[in-house]
Amino acid sequence: MDESFLRGLPKAELHLHLEGSFEPELMFEIARRNRVDIPFKTIEDVRAAYCFSNLQDFLDIYYRGASVLLAEQDFYDLTFAYLIRARADAVRHVEVFFDPQTHTMRGVPFAAVIGGILRALADGETAFGITSKVIPCILRHLSEDDAFAVLRQLEPFLDLVAGVGLDSSELGHPPEKFARVFAKAKAMGLKLVAHAGEEGPPEYVWQALDVLKVDRLDHGNRALDDAGLIARLAQDKTALTVCPLSNLKLCVVEDLLRHPLKRMLDLGLRATVNSDDPAYFGGYVGDNYVAVARALALSQAEIVQVAKNGFLGSFLPDADIARHLRTVDAFVAGG
Ligand code: ADE
Ligand code: ZN
Repeated sequence: MDESFLRGLPKAELHLHLEGSFEPELMFEIARRNRVDIPFKTIEDVRAAYCFSNLQDFLDIYYRGASVLLAEQDFYDLTFAYLIRARADAVRHVEVFFDPQTHTMRGVPFAAVIGGILRALADGETAFGITSKVIPCILRHLSEDDAFAVLRQLEPFLDLVAGVGLDSSELGHPPEKFARVFAKAKAMGLKLVAHAGEEGPPEYVWQALDVLKVDRLDHGNRALDDAGLIARLAQDKTALTVCPLSNLKLCVVEDLLRHPLKRMLDLGLRATVNSDDPAYFGGYVGDNYVAVARALALSQAEIVQVAKNGFLGSFLPDADIARHLRTVDAFVAGG
């Protein structure tokens, strides 16, 4: 399988934090126009700081980077820059995460955040034909009350938002902390996803499934430590949004050669490949496909299954999923 096949394969990206696609060049430009200080002199300084030994290490620097975003146009520029990169990797559909609290807690109006993001996504669909959904994420290191405040902010935008997610520091913040928040989100008609089993134990994955009742699981690596959990995920066809280069950079895996993606596929799990925070982890979704396919010597059939899993795990209507699956088959057939 050559690289052009992996890059050209039609893809859905289901695990992408917009704040994690903030490239240092754009960060400097926005910091300058907003007259905000950042603790780096050069782009090389920024990249040199992107060396992490765990999730928290990364989150500390990621929240600092996001703090230069102030105006609706900043969120537009961030989102549109991601779409330009996504187009180069043949992304046809994306379900983006963003962290409202990271911005509203600094006094940025929620309408500016979501307004800029939605405007860029609409322009991206017109310009590149990339369809999208937005999934605001609740920061799990903050309180249940803070999370309920996010749901209240979403109320005027319910037609425009696909679901809610749960992210940030996993250890010490189990999914059950947000049981009531997720029940309310479900009653509001929202889809539910949660990061679980990235650093946290299998018990957190069980909670995401049984307490939060998620429709899809973000990461899920540690689920492989529990045979009962594997059986459950396989039976329910729960999509896992796996992020190989993220796992490597955050030391969730020691080496890509030991990445669990192949095992997940062998076990019949609906594993997808995504970039998580591409500006911080050294690669967009196409780079993740190339790196993991090479490291694990995946066959063409396996990588095509991964691409199809992206569409199958999306929140698109069935007819749209079927259409995307046909474009994958046509690409493979050389058409
Ligand atoms: N926020 C951005 N990226 C994240 C990750 N990989 N895990 C948890 N929270 C995040
Ligand atoms: Zn993530």
